[in-house]
Amino acid sequence: MSAINDILFWVCGFVLCWQAYILIFNRGIPNIRTAPAVRDEMIRLLRGAGAKRIYDLGAGVGDLSRAIAKTLPEARVTGIEISKSACRKAETRARRAGFDNLDYKQADFMKTDLSDADGVVMFLLDTMMPCCGKNCGRS
Ligand SMILES: C[S@@+](CC[C@H](N)C(=O)[O-])C[C@H]1O[C@@H](n2cnc3c(N)ncnc32)[C@H](O)[C@@H]1O
Repeated sequence: MSAINDILFWVCGFVLCWQAYILIFNRGIPNIRTAPAVRDEMIRLLRGAGAKRIYDLGAGVGDLSRAIAKTLPEARVTGIEISKSACRKAETRARRAGFDNLDYKQADFMKTDLSDADGVVMFLLDTMMPCCGKNCGRS
């Protein structure tokens, strides 16, 4: 019984710390990365559409945008990320990997001009998708 209590204590502690991290450093928004299969499918769709000016809305630490920039070197990719720490990490990783067709902007994608976009990707909570679509429509 005491072993179960110990395990529950540490699991609850971990979950609380993780939630606190998300609340403090990521405005309550979890940074869950795209799976490689999801990335591949998004890139296939972008390639099929011939997209050359691509935005990744909510780029996180840049896994998806780096994969796009690498696979579609003829495209210009911009990741928009609201979290300062995630955006800095994405920039550092892109710089280290030597991309010249990829950049990041620390901003709210709802307030970002996307009028030159011909391809937009996002991997967000489904509750956020409708308002995100509104900005794409406006731009
Ligand atoms: C699921 S993660 C993105 C994962 C990333 N696309 C990848 O594949 O690695 C969602 C990201 O959206 C960001 N985000 C949420 N709302 C945002 C907003 N209004 N403007 C910019 N970024 C936002 C969060 O900070 C979080 O890092």
